[in-house]
Amino acid sequence: MSSIRSHIIASGSYLPERILTNKELEQMVDTTDEWIYQRSGIKQRHIASENETTVSMAVEAARKAIRNAGVSPQDIDGVIVATTTPDNTFPSVAVSVQAALDIPVGIAFDVQAVCTGFVYALSVADNFIKGGQLKRVLVIGAEKMSSVVDWEDRATCVLFADGAGAVLLEAREDSDGGILSTHLYADGRMKELLYTNGGVSTTGQSGKIVMQGREVFKNAVTLMADAVTAALEKNNMQPEQIDWLVPHQANSRIIEATARKLNLPMEQVVLTVDHHGNTSAASIPLAFDEAMQAGKIKPNQYVLFEALGGGLTWGSALVKI
Ligand code: ACO
Repeated sequence: MSSIRSHIIASGSYLPERILTNKELEQMVDTTDEWIYQRSGIKQRHIASENETTVSMAVEAARKAIRNAGVSPQDIDGVIVATTTPDNTFPSVAVSVQAALDIPVGIAFDVQAVCTGFVYALSVADNFIKGGQLKRVLVIGAEKMSSVVDWEDRATCVLFADGAGAVLLEAREDSDGGILSTHLYADGRMKELLYTNGGVSTTGQSGKIVMQGREVFKNAVTLMADAVTAALEKNNMQPEQIDWLVPHQANSRIIEATARKLNLPMEQVVLTVDHHGNTSAASIPLAFDEAMQAGKIKPNQYVLFEALGGGLTWGSALVKI
């Protein structure tokens, strides 16, 4: 078995300047700050300007991750972007990031697993590294969800938001740290629970989000708990050995339910949904970077990522920093 492990050596993130508060949403649709906060835990979210795109946000997040790592773009050989909202149908967001940052010829492509995208991308990058094909890979989650939100649908427009987060993975030999395991799942029979009502080969446009929120909620709690259990079992670990849970930031009630199942106090859960909203594939790396820059997550700590999104897709990744 390969002794190569993928280590997260740095992170970075980017949020648009414009903040949209629940109070402002009260002027746009029939809702209240109280309803939004009670049901989702969201107070405010960042929304991209017309000039900000998934690529531009991804580039800024990646630039910071590279700077924080103290490496040169020349030393990076892979770029994997998790996104549902690319600037163009093709080429990928990843190649645009590669070009913008002067990253030399290597592997660059996008991964589409909606809100689970970052966990999927991390797993794909990890396998490239463990297989010896790549040495330093940027894994980015970037979304302009505001472009696929139906701003007249109060059930969804209050939830989604924009932003980007990035981590830089590095191959290290004979290490006991880094990415310890990833578990990915999908069940297409539940695709009707969350989708866009259009696409390139149907309507010729991206379409807008349609969601059966209550059904997604019910599945989210059990499926994410399953993914977390799989990670713990694979690594022979007990829940109390986890230092930080960094969950997909869809809804604080889902996050609290998962933490309860793990017996993890909320002080060990990175919670950003209150000020970031649901940024889909960007939410985990955004939350991770916030906790890293605040000095909360420290070397040698065990961090558990978990997510669920449209598809349905879900998964987890356990990392020793
Ligand atoms: N303001 C006021 N009332 C509202 C709003 C709103 N913004 N939105 C819906 N309502 C109403 C509904 O019309 C409904 O009214 P009714 O009882 O008269 O029919 C009532 O509130 C309850 O609606 P529910 O949808 O049942 O509310 P629920 O408690 O389930 O909360 C929520 C909704 C927040 C969407 C929740 O179900 C949820 O978070 N679901 C999971 C979302 C998620 O995790 N998505 C996955 C990731 S996203 C991705 O992959 C892209």
